[in-house]
Amino acid sequence: MSESTHSEPVAAVVVAAGSGVRLGGEIPKALRLLGGRSLVAWAVDSLAAGGVTDVVVVVADGLEDDFEVALADSLVSYRIVVGGASRQESVRRGLAAVGGCDVVLVHDAARPLVPAQVVASVVEAVRGGASVCIPTVPVSDTIRQDVDSGNVVVDRSTLRAVQTPQGFTYDVLLAAHDQAKGADYTDDAAVCEAAGHAVVLVPGSREAFKVTEPFDLLVAEAVLRSRA
Ligand code: CTP
Ligand code: MG
Repeated sequence: MSESTHSEPVAAVVVAAGSGVRLGGEIPKALRLLGGRSLVAWAVDSLAAGGVTDVVVVVADGLEDDFEVALADSLVSYRIVVGGASRQESVRRGLAAVGGCDVVLVHDAARPLVPAQVVASVVEAVRGGASVCIPTVPVSDTIRQDVDSGNVVVDRSTLRAVQTPQGFTYDVLLAAHDQAKGADYTDDAAVCEAAGHAVVLVPGSREAFKVTEPFDLLVAEAVLRSRA
């Protein structure tokens, strides 16, 4: 296992090709505004603040120009590529556009306010030798499993909610995605786990939450105000 240095580039795939059905509204979720800027622009700048140097933004077909406008003031160099019907397919297409690099992150445009510290610790872990590293937070609600035969409480002390950005050695992630074709995974750590790779956990942050429903956008506005 080789360790890379701080001067080496860190690439990221930002998946932004979803439509945001649960959020609702007229425009795709990643282009929705938060404090006057699009979610995708916040997400890209949050990655840059944590040490990412090159970004591939994966967008829905036909929206390339809208994303160009949204990202015009972003702090890091970026390219735009067209995504697919599932998040997994969008990541695959983004990865193909990244080309060779040692460290690659995959991030949801829907997590605009991930703190720089979280991004940096994921990058650090991969540079330090982890093939797969993800930020997680403890689960704060009591959890109950509800199945046909009835429902039962679950011990939440060992449960973790998974966030992004997730970090990988590029070759591991690329090969794992090739192997995962046809199967359905909701995140890239699960894709790598299915290919036999161990997943390293680092502390995430409540502020890295995913904007999914209208309530989340209200919370994001409040978090942003609290930073001003
Ligand atoms: N995503 C993507 N390509 C898809 C589906 C999702 O790039 N075909 C991205 C979304 O743009 C988002 C991230 O994956 O940044 C996480 O997905 P989610 O929160 O589910 O976003 P949407 O799929 O857009 O929302 P919804 O499921 O409510 O429609
Ligand atoms: Mg979705």
